[in-house]
Amino acid sequence: MFVTILHNRDHSLLEDDPGREARADVVNVANAMAEALSGGRRRVVVKAVDDVRSVADVLTTDPDVVVNLCESLGADSRGEALVPAMLELAQVCFTGSSSFSLALALHKNKAKEILRARGVPTPAAHIIERVEDLVGLELAFPLIVKPSREDASMGIDFDSVVHDRQALGRVVSRVLRTFKQPVLVEQFVDGREIYVPLLGNSGRKALPLTEIEFGAAFANKPRILSYGAKWDTSSPECIDSPSKLVELPTAIRKRCVEVALAAFEALECRDYGRVDLRLDGANEPYVIDINPNCDLHPAAGFARSAQAAGLSYGDLALHLIELAQERHHGHSTPRLSGPNAARRTAAPHRDLHGRRSGLRARADRRSRPAE
Ligand SMILES: Nc1ncnc2c1ncn2[C@@H]1O[C@H](COP(=O)(O)OP(=O)(O)O)[C@@H](O)[C@H]1O
Ligand SMILES: [Mg+2]
Repeated sequence: MFVTILHNRDHSLLEDDPGREARADVVNVANAMAEALSGGRRRVVVKAVDDVRSVADVLTTDPDVVVNLCESLGADSRGEALVPAMLELAQVCFTGSSSFSLALALHKNKAKEILRARGVPTPAAHIIERVEDLVGLELAFPLIVKPSREDASMGIDFDSVVHDRQALGRVVSRVLRTFKQPVLVEQFVDGREIYVPLLGNSGRKALPLTEIEFGAAFANKPRILSYGAKWDTSSPECIDSPSKLVELPTAIRKRCVEVALAAFEALECRDYGRVDLRLDGANEPYVIDINPNCDLHPAAGFARSAQAAGLSYGDLALHLIELAQERHHGHSTPRLSGPNAARRTAAPHRDLHGRRSGLRARADRRSRPAE
């Protein structure tokens, strides 16, 4: 089996890129995955991509499965959804969520609209495109201000939690100026931060939950995972905010998993991901972030939760490939039998399947011929 591990290579593009460290770390994940998957009958290559052409070049090598770790393309977060769009058009089997789900998760305000429509609890929020839009804002303080289309805590520091209109105006202007995208102003939920890692499709399961333990470094600061607290490993805030496996009382755990599964399904996420929650004073969970293709670093929370559930990093890597192949081929191996046997064709795209025979015929014609 020919496995290609795809990752973005854009951390050096901008010296002062506000997400530089976050973008560099993906190389370490790709190498760890390559090591985990090497062996057996697999040929594994790691490919760094930085533009559409380099993704197209990878497609010409005809991989059996792509492990898609791309979080951006050319230092633009929107590229996270564009890489799988190209893989989909080429009908290549790849791990993780679709272009559609990744784009939705990245547009936090749209994701929240869907959650609200489905009754999944998420903090009240408004999207702000210009500072003037703040005039009509009717949300009670404290609030948190974040870029609406980033992840990895980009644009979030301790000033992001605001208690009055003056600070709100100041932070909103700064985020609008720096990130050149609408800003999300959201109700600040000052409670525990719980992560629910999810694995699987038809039998989707929550892996053991983790909690961010905010320690003494947060005595005079808002208890949030700011960019520094996440990435500046020498900072007191990073050292003092470890994520740890957590045993919650059964009813609270059940509710957290129920809410996380509902959020994951609402965006049609698949294979693996993590839903981040904050609990309010009554221990009711609110979805603050949905991470479809979450960090797969062996030392990060998802892999540690998998480990706690009895899945080693190697088992996890193999399982992710199996999940992708089951979805794509309706079977967990890409070839009918033996290494030189014909490749299974892709199942017709589910969304084109519909009830209309015309569409189905077109979908069938477009499916990849057996080689
Ligand atoms: N509504 C909120 N209430 C309390 N804390 C929040 C809220 N939104 C974000 N945070 C804090 O900010 C961090 C980053 O926010 P998040 O929405 O997860 O952004 P990203 O997509 O960049 O990871 C969270 O881990 C959490 O600590
Ligand atoms: Mg987050």
